Amino acid sequence: MGSAGLNRARDKMLDAGVDEVAIETFAHYYRLLEHGETGMIPESSIEPVDIPSLADVEVSDEVAAEAIRSTAVIKLNGGLGTSMGMDRAKSLLCVRRGLSFLDIIARQVLHLRSTYDATLPLIFMNSFRTSGDTMEALARYEDLPVEGLPLEFLQNKEPKLLKKDLSPAAYPKDPSLEWCPPGHGDLYTALRGTGLLDRLIEAGYERVFVSNSDNLGAVPDARVAGWFAASGAPFAIEAVRRTASDKKGGHFARRRGDGRLVLRETAQVLPQDQAALADLETHRFCSTNNLWFDLAAMKHALDVRQGVLGLPLIRNVKHLDPGDPSTPEVIQIETAMGAAIEVFEGSQLIEVGRDRFVPVKTTNDLLVLRSDVYDIKKDFVLDQVAVELPYVDLDGDYYKLVGEFDKRFPQGAPSMKKATSLTVAGDWTFGHGVQVVGDVALEASSAQRVQADAVLSGPSDG
Ligand code: UTP
Repeated sequence: MGSAGLNRARDKMLDAGVDEVAIETFAHYYRLLEHGETGMIPESSIEPVDIPSLADVEVSDEVAAEAIRSTAVIKLNGGLGTSMGMDRAKSLLCVRRGLSFLDIIARQVLHLRSTYDATLPLIFMNSFRTSGDTMEALARYEDLPVEGLPLEFLQNKEPKLLKKDLSPAAYPKDPSLEWCPPGHGDLYTALRGTGLLDRLIEAGYERVFVSNSDNLGAVPDARVAGWFAASGAPFAIEAVRRTASDKKGGHFARRRGDGRLVLRETAQVLPQDQAALADLETHRFCSTNNLWFDLAAMKHALDVRQGVLGLPLIRNVKHLDPGDPSTPEVIQIETAMGAAIEVFEGSQLIEVGRDRFVPVKTTNDLLVLRSDVYDIKKDFVLDQVAVELPYVDLDGDYYKLVGEFDKRFPQGAPSMKKATSLTVAGDWTFGHGVQVVGDVALEASSAQRVQADAVLSGPSDG
């Protein structure tokens, strides 16, 4: 028996045609939420991990080629880029020369197919909010779909819950805002629920490479595929060294007792363990969200659990209408894909270079990607030409939302390949052909303009 709130949420999902396993999965997490489940992972229950590095492992060309030929690629594309003020997929944004994230992803895969003579299906996990735009943008790639397989599958949707009583929220003004995608941990439920898991197995694919569509560094690399195939592991995640800017983010660890690898997110750290979380020498690795799994092992794990992997719950508090803070606070129940590492005995981690981890979470990241810090050649792989990645910190008041950001870089990003850092305080609009060299800081109390072709170098007080 569930509570009144759960029953109403269930009915709402049934009426909307959500599949039964997705409803049961939602109900599982709802009950955890109701019981105040926090999913905390105390420092005393884990130990640091030591992991191999991709740079040190031997993978023959033959093994790599063989592995990529039996791999399918999934891109997570269901999120809405709300942190950048978007209400559609971030991957629709232009990166450069009229090419969006989606264009670059498609071309990376098409290039690999011809290099390895591989079918390498590319499949997007969209949500009800990202499907239309994404499919329209991909329509120009006539060769992209692989016979017998879809180009997308839809993740599930679940009701947003009023924070005050956990009942499903109503918003007659825009009923689509009553729903949210359940985080990327929904990948497994949606793969099974849509039947795609079985179809991939029947078509002879052995493994899947999954990554965020906002990370153009996540190329389905044949060497990594070869390493994963040869490891025999059911599940693996690519990790990178944590740096000072990752201090507050999650990290990998090994659970004492059963020795399983776990992904500890910031929200799962107790107040008294904050210092341990920030210790980059102890907890050295964080996730890229580039993930590999063996299809047969995943099918088995889902089947024995009736489709519910039981991942740690993430309680995400937002406003019912994210663009209107006067609307009530709601809880969105989410899970994270990488947390499934603990489900499998024999999961592995592999350290990869930062070139495989170029996430765009903020407009600061977008500015670097749009600049000449990376070159994009025939293979559409990002090639870092700058010696070091510049640190960018744009004033949140003027640049946080992508629309406002675009207005202030009307002619595109400045040249940043010689920049160490760019800090902008105040409202600056950049002209065409601006170069940033070394450490540059701009400050202004009223709207200012950086003139076309200006070379900004060293500190500036505006
Ligand atoms: P993020 O949470 O980092 O990005 O998800 P987001 O959802 O696009 O942006 P914000 O948080 O609203 O600002 C990482 C990746 O997971 C996908 C996103 O599309 C992104 O590629 N994702 C996220 C899904 O596919 N489904 C979800 O329910 C959530």
